[in-house]
Amino acid sequence: MTTEESEPLSRRARAGREEEGGLTGARTLVSLAELRGAVNECRRCTLWKATTQGVPGEGAVPARLMLVGEAPGDSEDLRGHPFVGPAGTILDRALQDAGLGRDSVYITNAVKHFKFEPRGKRRLHIKPSATEIEACHWWLGEELRLVAPKLVMALGGTAARALLGHPVIVSQLRGSPTRLSATAHLWVTIHPSFLLRVPDDAQRRSEYARFVKELKDAVAWIDKH
Ligand code: URA
Ligand code: SF4
Repeated sequence: MTTEESEPLSRRARAGREEEGGLTGARTLVSLAELRGAVNECRRCTLWKATTQGVPGEGAVPARLMLVGEAPGDSEDLRGHPFVGPAGTILDRALQDAGLGRDSVYITNAVKHFKFEPRGKRRLHIKPSATEIEACHWWLGEELRLVAPKLVMALGGTAARALLGHPVIVSQLRGSPTRLSATAHLWVTIHPSFLLRVPDDAQRRSEYARFVKELKDAVAWIDKH
């Protein structure tokens, strides 16, 4: 390999990105292995400034099923992995109850940096704005291209909005797949943190069962199509 050929991922790519306006991450990714470093260099919006790190998606590549959440929370920001806090615990349990290994799917978020407001020693999650969702969509597009899923599950309204490009009401779209692109369909469902917030025990159990059934139905849909 010549120097010219071995360079693109390092110095030349970096220079290219800098020319594009300050490490905006506008160059297409060659592989998902590049994602972590590239997300950390992203300056497409200002969320990165107050965070520990960017949180890229991870999991199987390619994957038939891709799950998209909202944005990293406090634990995800500290650990650098998606869904490793309380919402992740319940998501992992639901995946397991649906017969899905976490490493058989690809899991990511609509927005890759944690948005929060400090409250004493705690950092309280804030929903990303439409502008931030739009700015971060470039990364989601790259993940879709490289993971090439057959079905994308939007976990909650922010993910659905990011994928469809307009605000949506989750309850109206929930459960029936719609076409997302030439190769992928979209299945909108609730965010797993909703399951943590249902106050009534019986209702929480039934919402959880509905979510698990939906994951199973999604896999059955993939098998059929
Ligand atoms: N909530 C999300 O939407 N994503 C995470 O990664 C964690 C919590
Ligand atoms: Fe870039 Fe997304 Fe992070 Fe904003 S949240 S800096 S768009 S990676």
